[in-house]
Amino acid sequence: MNKIKVNLDKKTSASYEIYIGENIVDRMGLIMAKNNWASRYVMITDSNLSTSHGEKVQATLREMELKVDLIDFPAGEASKNFQTNLRIVDRIIDLGADRTSALIALGGGVVGDITGFIASIYMRGIPYIQVPTTLLAQVDSSIGGKTGIDLPEGKNILGTFYQPKGVFIDLAFLKTLTPREFRSGLAEIVKYGIIDDPELLSSLEVEAEAIRNRDMSLLEKIIARSCRIKKGIVEIDEMDKGIRRILNFGHTIGHAIEAESRYSVSHGDAVSIGMVASTLISERLKYLPSEDRERIISLIRAIGLPDRIPKTLSPTGILSRIKRDKKKEGDTIHFVLLKKIGIPFVNGSVSEGLIGEIIEALKK
Ligand code: GLY
Repeated sequence: MNKIKVNLDKKTSASYEIYIGENIVDRMGLIMAKNNWASRYVMITDSNLSTSHGEKVQATLREMELKVDLIDFPAGEASKNFQTNLRIVDRIIDLGADRTSALIALGGGVVGDITGFIASIYMRGIPYIQVPTTLLAQVDSSIGGKTGIDLPEGKNILGTFYQPKGVFIDLAFLKTLTPREFRSGLAEIVKYGIIDDPELLSSLEVEAEAIRNRDMSLLEKIIARSCRIKKGIVEIDEMDKGIRRILNFGHTIGHAIEAESRYSVSHGDAVSIGMVASTLISERLKYLPSEDRERIISLIRAIGLPDRIPKTLSPTGILSRIKRDKKKEGDTIHFVLLKKIGIPFVNGSVSEGLIGEIIEALKK
């Protein structure tokens, strides 16, 4: 089992470990018991995972004499609303959870965001642990303590930075993902290679086919490498005031595509197209050499990710969503661009005209 420590500023948050391996639920139980994080646990999951994974994890932990209850809510981003969250809190109260209790987030990004958010405010804050089941959550959302729920006005409008006590990444869950879910995580892994790690990018190029075929030992190495990159960035900028913004490479246009498609384009596919767009913008502004642009786009294709905007989506609609992006500060849209592979930077002066041109050029 791989073990990676996230070292945080003691004045702000406690440090914690990320554990990575296949079939690690037993070992997770031992670590929970040894650390004595809580007198009892409430595991939160979604309706798709409750029977397939939730009941099994609960049974394993109960065999180890840990007190664990299980709650589920309807799967999907729509559940990140206020009412669903109040209903979850009601059920936690009904179970008698108090300040000595802790939560377990078992699921993808939505489960992690909701559970972390509730843990951060329930009785002024109780501990939680992350057990991410999707590749996307394993390499991105379970690490770094971002939590949140959506309001009609936008995504993650209410949220906190609240770090888990531990993250347990069990590769066994990856076998059950749909191709769409699996691809979503691959996009974030490609992103880490582009923004931070040319060596990771080279191994993705060499092993693209084995990765698509979910070779577990290869995935373990790549997930560990991705987690190391993310934790390194979070350690420097836990509160997302500076360098952490480079993790948004591909996300400004990606979020707009995702929303404009009413979420029929997955997060990973949208981020993949967004990364292509940011690569082209970087080249057009004469920052990025054309060999780097070719390398990025070839890898995106080789790994099975999309590089074109579906023709059903309106370029004007995408552009107006970009302008409304929540990361817009004042009148500036902040884009993460590239000087070369491994050297990203934030640029606030990309013109709307250029963004529109690139979106138009990327239509199928
Ligand atoms: N997913 C971006 C971040 O954690 O900052």
